[in-house]
Amino acid sequence: MSELSPRFPEMRMRRLRRLPALRQLVRETDLRPSDLVLPLFVRPGQGLRQEIPSMPGQYQHSPDTLVETASRAWELGIRAVILFGIPAYKDEVGSAALDEAGIIPQAILALKRRLPDLLVITDECFCEYTSHGHCGVLSEKGGRRDVDNDRTLEQLGQQSVVHARAGADMVAPSGMMDGMVAAVRHALDAAGFEHIHILSYAAKYASGFYGPFREAAESPPQFGDRSTYQMDPANAAEALREIALDLAEGADIVMVKPALAYLDILRRAKERFGVPLAAYNVSGEYAMVKAAAARGWLDERRIVLEILTAIKRAGASFILTYHALDAAAWLSE
Ligand code: PBG
Repeated sequence: MSELSPRFPEMRMRRLRRLPALRQLVRETDLRPSDLVLPLFVRPGQGLRQEIPSMPGQYQHSPDTLVETASRAWELGIRAVILFGIPAYKDEVGSAALDEAGIIPQAILALKRRLPDLLVITDECFCEYTSHGHCGVLSEKGGRRDVDNDRTLEQLGQQSVVHARAGADMVAPSGMMDGMVAAVRHALDAAGFEHIHILSYAAKYASGFYGPFREAAESPPQFGDRSTYQMDPANAAEALREIALDLAEGADIVMVKPALAYLDILRRAKERFGVPLAAYNVSGEYAMVKAAAARGWLDERRIVLEILTAIKRAGASFILTYHALDAAAWLSE
């Protein structure tokens, strides 16, 4: 507003809020089912629908029930899912993640058979596949056991190619390894998958908000934490550097994660880069809403739509959220 704009009493802001139709006309942000990506957990088996205790309404599926849930999402206008696998076995290096017949390839095949136009995104990381729960291969440097960045990159490339071969449309490296986008891009291109998109978890924070996910994916680190690879929640300038590097390495879309406590990062990334931006409304954010709603302390529908609208308003092009099915149903009423 300039100094020359009229003020009260000539200007009355409430005039624009007076009627529902008017409020709709001037609404700056709109939220649609197609803005939402549904995260889904899949494990080997049949007929499985095992509720995750800290994420009421979310399930570990087997590939067959996964397809049922994804079909529901499709009917509600959701056009993309992101898959997290719980493998049949875990080992030191996470080799189940590279298995062409592993749980994620099985899930992709099942989904594509029934829902060929559903966009299938796969998470590229090893924490669900390693016995120690860290996001890559370990080595010891300076007397400390830590994730070996460059050895993990080789595996990340292989994992992405395995997923692309099974029919994934987009791969999402999430381990916060340096150089991960370039490694995945090179591996995909070398295998003839230059058309497959990379959604990089570029600014991923070492967050307490992932607690319920680690229960859902059976992936908590068995020693230490993820602070040597995920970002310090206190940092913002560093997030912009991470995003710039990932874009330079060829990321098609970059993500900020978690969402709610990091809306400032989303906004700054939107203003600085003007590229497609994803936000991950993570498990702990979901669990807080569900817990409060179960006690009658919050109106779930109202809160969920407010949160998702706010994440879009801050700058997200689309949102990964466990509320996707509920929100899409509410939005289409
Ligand atoms: C890593 C990964 C994590 C999440 C998505 N991908 C967990 C982690 O970094 O520990 C968290 C998502 C959520 O909390 O909803 N594979």
